[in-house]
Amino acid sequence: MDNLEQLVAEAAAAFAAATELARLEDAKAAYLGKEGALTVLLKGLGKLPPEERKAAGAAINAAKARIEALLAERREALKAAQLAAQLEATALDVTLPGRGQPAGTHHPVMRTLERIEALFASIGFAVADGPEIETDWHNFTALNTPENHPARSMHDTFYLLDEQGRVRPDVLLRTHTSPVQIRTMLAHVEKYRHLDPLPEIRVICPGRVYRVDSDATHSPMFHQVEGLWVGENVSFADLKGVIVDFLRRFFESDDLQVRFRPSFFPFTEPSAEIDVAFMHGELKGRWLEIAGCGMVHPNVLRHGGIDPERYTGFAFGMGPDRLTMLRYGIHDLRLFFDGDLRFLSQFQ
Ligand code: DAH
Repeated sequence: MDNLEQLVAEAAAAFAAATELARLEDAKAAYLGKEGALTVLLKGLGKLPPEERKAAGAAINAAKARIEALLAERREALKAAQLAAQLEATALDVTLPGRGQPAGTHHPVMRTLERIEALFASIGFAVADGPEIETDWHNFTALNTPENHPARSMHDTFYLLDEQGRVRPDVLLRTHTSPVQIRTMLAHVEKYRHLDPLPEIRVICPGRVYRVDSDATHSPMFHQVEGLWVGENVSFADLKGVIVDFLRRFFESDDLQVRFRPSFFPFTEPSAEIDVAFMHGELKGRWLEIAGCGMVHPNVLRHGGIDPERYTGFAFGMGPDRLTMLRYGIHDLRLFFDGDLRFLSQFQ
């Protein structure tokens, strides 16, 4: 019966060597399967002399029972290990801090636009809006810049293509917010047709504009804020008062110097460019151009449906990107449009 003891020991070693359930079932076949060692021994009982059969059968069955018990034990151990590994792999650490959803911040240029809107709202200006894909008529012609007028070359315009890929002469990406002046006047005249005199127009128009231009201080897309005040007695003195007051409040500096330098724009007459000089800090004493302005040209009023003999107005167009750079001391315009969170998240 020594070989039975050895068989049990061998089976125990084979089961222990199986580290997966499938391998364990293979090992089982070698002992308990149809051709397994124990099956073969049991089958061989018939060949023994009758007086030996009983003891031999009992011994083989005892060995078989031990091997079955070893198998069951190993099977349980492997199943438990498999489950433990599975749980480990899909473990959820409930003590980990959550990933969270960091709150976004306003873009620095948007903060400037909101500030400009609030300051102008405080003196009775509404906010007007217009399309970024604009007609050539609103962008140029109605603003006293007829076809072939040299002033058109002041703007490097993005035109749109038709389905055949040809440049369409009639639509473009607006090169400035000034076309909103025309749209505002036409809508205003239509709305207040029945009133005499026409109520005053007092609007600012913040928005995106486009030009073929790109370097540290120019981006093909940038922002402008247009302003328009039209009424019966609006003068250049009003223009100066509004602008100077606005700039001093915007920069929170009562001694900010503002200069109106004669200039030319087709849609205003007379026209000026507006420069500011800071009295303190890094930019102390340097004049910086921040806007164009002037008295609305009679032809522009006419295109807006307004009688230039009766009404006058002033307009201005400024660059809020520029104002933002000055306010926060930023030297490269491109930082605004790169979308780099390391930069943007500084404006909490
Ligand atoms: N539209 C001009 C530009 O983009 C800026 C401008 C100048 C607007 C004078 C005005 C104005 O309303 O009166 O260069």
